[in-house]
Amino acid sequence: MKVQGKHYRTIWLEGAAVRLIEQRLLPHRFEILSCGDYQATAAAIKDMAVRGAGAIGAAAGYAMAQAALAAPASGFRAALEQARETIRSTRPTAHDLFAALEQVFQAALTASTADAARVAAVQAAEAFAEGNACAGEAIGRAGAALLRPGMRVLTHCNAGWLAFVDWGSALAPIYCAHAAGLPLHVYATETRPRSQGAKLTAWELAQAGVAHRLIADTAAGSLFQRSMVDCVIVGADRIAANGDTANKIGTYTLAVLAQRHAVPLYVAAPRSTFDSATPTGAAIPIEQRHEDEVLYVTGLGDDGALRRVRVTAPGTSADNPAFDVTPAALITCFITEEGLIEPNRQALAAWLQRRPAMAAPAR
Ligand code: MRU
Repeated sequence: MKVQGKHYRTIWLEGAAVRLIEQRLLPHRFEILSCGDYQATAAAIKDMAVRGAGAIGAAAGYAMAQAALAAPASGFRAALEQARETIRSTRPTAHDLFAALEQVFQAALTASTADAARVAAVQAAEAFAEGNACAGEAIGRAGAALLRPGMRVLTHCNAGWLAFVDWGSALAPIYCAHAAGLPLHVYATETRPRSQGAKLTAWELAQAGVAHRLIADTAAGSLFQRSMVDCVIVGADRIAANGDTANKIGTYTLAVLAQRHAVPLYVAAPRSTFDSATPTGAAIPIEQRHEDEVLYVTGLGDDGALRRVRVTAPGTSADNPAFDVTPAALITCFITEEGLIEPNRQALAAWLQRRPAMAAPAR
């Protein structure tokens, strides 16, 4: 996607360094963060310099490749296993992270020499990242077919290209439809506590020239009540075998509202987000984040400096679950890179058992 006319991916490998768009500074500053080793890339995932399921999947894959590049030939496997543990422990919910990590780890282990393993690890990490970008584009095409001129689309959090390597999931159909000349209007929820909607989605949509308005999370019900939402498109962090979907906290609220008002709710996600080993949403690990994210807000002061300010009285404490689970029964259908899939165990099992489409070769 383009930032001020220049094409960027959210994350890429340059030599042995992972380079990524520093998302904690957006929309106020556009900077590229360079991570020289796997520990730095793991820290970028944990501290949310890079975030969003697809992007942290790519980051985890690249981090594993960095570990392979740096591992000594003697003790190669032990070094990789240690790195794997570090990367696994960064964030628990997004399935893409674990899928990418395993793909790169296994690719390295199947090679017969350390040199061959390093090459294999880099190739596997690049293949995951390229596959993620290609999936985003295909999700865009599949989802755009659901949109009609003048539709008002509500989205939550950021499942745009910043959450992927490129294109995104929930925003990809909007980008495709917009590129085809379809007039649309997007409502982006603010998405407290980290405000990915306010800080990232609104910025992405502005870069792409898509008409949009930001709403406070608490305004969503009123929009539905006044028939101002024609469909909801959200992304996903992990989808269980029965279709229950973990996504950013607040998605369940929107799904209940959508059902109450007979508005379709689409979940856009690539194959790598579907976790057939997790039977239902109840078994999805939900990340609990630090209470300071609720107690404080960060923004730009009138003097141009980024500042963190406390919202609450001293002594107030907070709960901060990062994700919730939307039951499959509230989902109209999944938008995937291989088309629309019904949200039930049978349809998902049949689809996931089919051979995955090959990712395009890395550029
Ligand atoms: O905590 P984050 O920002 O990494 O959360 C992930 C998300 O942005 C959302 O849950 C999104 O809808 C799915 S990511 C494609």
